[in-house]
Amino acid sequence: MTNIFSLDGKVALVTGSSRGLGRAMALGLAGCGAHVVVNGRNPEGIEATRAAIVAAGGSATALAFDTTDIAAADAGVDRIEAEFGHLDILVNNAGYGNARTASEATNVEWDEIIEVDLNACFRLARRASLGMIRRGWGRIINISSINAHIAREANANYCAAKAGLEGLTRALAVEWGPKGITVNAIAPGYMMTPDNMDTPLRADPQQRDRFAGRTALKRWGQANELDGAVVYLASNASTYCTGHVLIVDGGMSVKI
Ligand SMILES: NC(=O)c1ccc[n+]([C@@H]2O[C@H](COP(=O)([O-])OP(=O)(O)OC[C@H]3O[C@@H](n4cnc5c(N)ncnc54)[C@H](OP(=O)(O)O)[C@@H]3O)[C@@H](O)[C@H]2O)c1
Repeated sequence: MTNIFSLDGKVALVTGSSRGLGRAMALGLAGCGAHVVVNGRNPEGIEATRAAIVAAGGSATALAFDTTDIAAADAGVDRIEAEFGHLDILVNNAGYGNARTASEATNVEWDEIIEVDLNACFRLARRASLGMIRRGWGRIINISSINAHIAREANANYCAAKAGLEGLTRALAVEWGPKGITVNAIAPGYMMTPDNMDTPLRADPQQRDRFAGRTALKRWGQANELDGAVVYLASNASTYCTGHVLIVDGGMSVKI
């Protein structure tokens, strides 16, 4: 029988996969057979994820570059194409917020978030699409946020960048659909990742409970709870799904 979720023979780049959601998705994709290129800026972090994938019986390579460094990001995609002959799946995951209020954020602080959460994702998608279009098959998965849909205080740049990323997802899906590429997004809710922009929120018991209470499932998500979504969108299980935003938020956005 055919396993429609199999990623055997596919090469996937997961940006920002040294820790958190990126690391979990890298392990999830490798578990379904993909060779995963693990990325981040810190070489030690990505080597740890690579080693974890190999220890679990998967196949992975570590490739350090800053997604906002245009030359380095282009060179990263080109190197994967040269080394493996194909880059089939791009997961644009590297990103963060800087918790600056709209009133107080400097123009530089605004631009920093738009650059990492939107501009870098566009440039990587465009570079990766070159080989995907040549081969007539590709999967681009942008990691958005529930904050593209519902806003939190001190988050205007992040909300704007992630909403832009979802608009970009639809536009690229329309442009590249005829070329055999699907472009989708995942919008996670509040996930328990070890050390990220929400660490102060989770450290405050009142805030932690308030955010859990906002969901239908009454809890924060675990880092590996995006694995099913990313494998679905990366595999032949989703051949007729494109331009979609898959919200994985424990029901936060459907609850009053
Ligand atoms: N965690 C949540 O609750 C949540 C909810 C909604 C959406 N998201 C989104 O999910 C994604 C991952 O979030 P996370 O919480 O897992 O983040 P995280 O734990 O802070 O990890 C971020 C990852 O991205 C890498 N990174 C950051 N900037 C980079 C850059 N310019 N170039 C290359 N790598 C870079 C980091 O490694 P280095 O520092 O070594 O570069 C790290 O591997 C983000 O796009 C975030 O907006 C997260």
